[in-house]
Amino acid sequence: MTSSGTNSGADPHLPSAESLSPAWELLLPAAAPARGRGRALRSALREAVRSGRLAGGTRLPSSRELAADLGVSRGLVTEAYEQLTAESYLRSGRGAGTWVSEGVRAAERPVRDRAPGAEGARVDFRPGTPDLSLFPRSAWAAAQRTVFGRLPHGALGYPDPRGLPELREALAGLLARRRGVVADPERLVVCSGVAQATTLLGFVLRDEGVVSVGVEDPGSPEHSSLFAATGLGTVPLPLDDEGLALAPLERSGVRAVVTTPAHQFPTGIGYSARRRGELLGWARDADAVIMEDDYDGDFRYDRAPVGALQGLDPERVVYTGSVSKSLAPGLRLGWLVAPAALTERIVARKRTMDLGNPVLDQAVLADFIVRGGYDRQLRRCQRAYRERRDAMVAALGEHFPGTAVSGIAAGLHIIARLPTRYGPEDVFLERAAGAGIALRLLSDCGTDGSGDGGLPLVLGYAHLAPGDIARGVAALAEAWRTGRTGSG
Ligand SMILES: Cc1ncc(COP(=O)(O)O)c(C=O)c1O
Repeated sequence: MTSSGTNSGADPHLPSAESLSPAWELLLPAAAPARGRGRALRSALREAVRSGRLAGGTRLPSSRELAADLGVSRGLVTEAYEQLTAESYLRSGRGAGTWVSEGVRAAERPVRDRAPGAEGARVDFRPGTPDLSLFPRSAWAAAQRTVFGRLPHGALGYPDPRGLPELREALAGLLARRRGVVADPERLVVCSGVAQATTLLGFVLRDEGVVSVGVEDPGSPEHSSLFAATGLGTVPLPLDDEGLALAPLERSGVRAVVTTPAHQFPTGIGYSARRRGELLGWARDADAVIMEDDYDGDFRYDRAPVGALQGLDPERVVYTGSVSKSLAPGLRLGWLVAPAALTERIVARKRTMDLGNPVLDQAVLADFIVRGGYDRQLRRCQRAYRERRDAMVAALGEHFPGTAVSGIAAGLHIIARLPTRYGPEDVFLERAAGAGIALRLLSDCGTDGSGDGGLPLVLGYAHLAPGDIARGVAALAEAWRTGRTGSG
């Protein structure tokens, strides 16, 4: 990665404290097909507000001006403004004019809490959490005792900011064996989850002059928020059936992109072998870097194993992962494996950020991996999650006939596209919330996907027992029926 040609004070992507100076024409992804433009604009506006790229209080151009900038009809812009005003992302002023609402940035209003009544929900189908009751307490406690017994006093000093050597060795072996990662312990940095790996990389890229990073659309809203916190903008890039679509990526001009190739979040697509090759070809031609977020790559059920993208070109890919799905997100333990050209700068950032992760936690995880506890945990979770996935698919088939499910071969969540009769989505959400059921919509993750028909939901199942899944889906169907009767 070199820094040529991406930064200048005048670059419209570059957020600054005084003014976000938005480049309005960039709101509409160049790749948006003519018939999906309204949807693409709405979702780009939502993403820009959530990520902070459009700050609260920013005045939007008039619908006439924006339509002219984007080369679309004025009605399409008016419709987008009205829809986002209804969703409270925008507000209209007393006279003419539309402003970005204050207080809707992702950091202050996380998407995962957007569903009405999500706090204290009776059933929570939102994705992101494994079953915390499967945390291996006794094996972990045994590892803690072992570590306390053998750690010399000297080991309690400031750690190597890369991480404890024994943990880096253990992780390098684990990642090579399980994920096909080319993992040199010298290039492995222990950090506080994929979240911190993203932030570290964001700062390093920004220092190199990169101003914006491509992100999958739909994708994880966290990527945009985390990069925004490092001063980087994000460019939403569409997917096709094989992964990140290549032509829009090439046209976008970005020099860095984030991908979730093992099990795309949220659609569940596994990137095809061809697309992996094309993506790496693009990175070499554009002298770009790819961040691989392998957030749930450990869990697959009925498909052949797919190794990490990083294994195909370790000098172009920053591989990231964590124990957030395999053990517990509260441990805040993760890792990245960096290309040689970036490693020292990432380590330097890690040092200035927090002087390294806690020594004891690292030593315990190393012991847990070396003694086989980590593999046992993965096998146990894999069995449980497969059963839950099957329970979810069966319950949807029973209570929501006609639902199309996808992304089911791996991971901890599925996409369920309910038939159109269950829409519109805000009415469906409201009825679910009324029954104490928290949901995540695909539209919370960028492009809403409703252009493909139906009402697409992102349903997490791993944290729920099979019986709870069956009861929860039945309760959701009941809430829908009762609401419909109630509203006549
Ligand atoms: C796409 C994606 N990446 C990464 C993570 C995990 O982040 P961390 O490892 O910081 O807990 C999540 C958590 O839900 C996620 O959805």
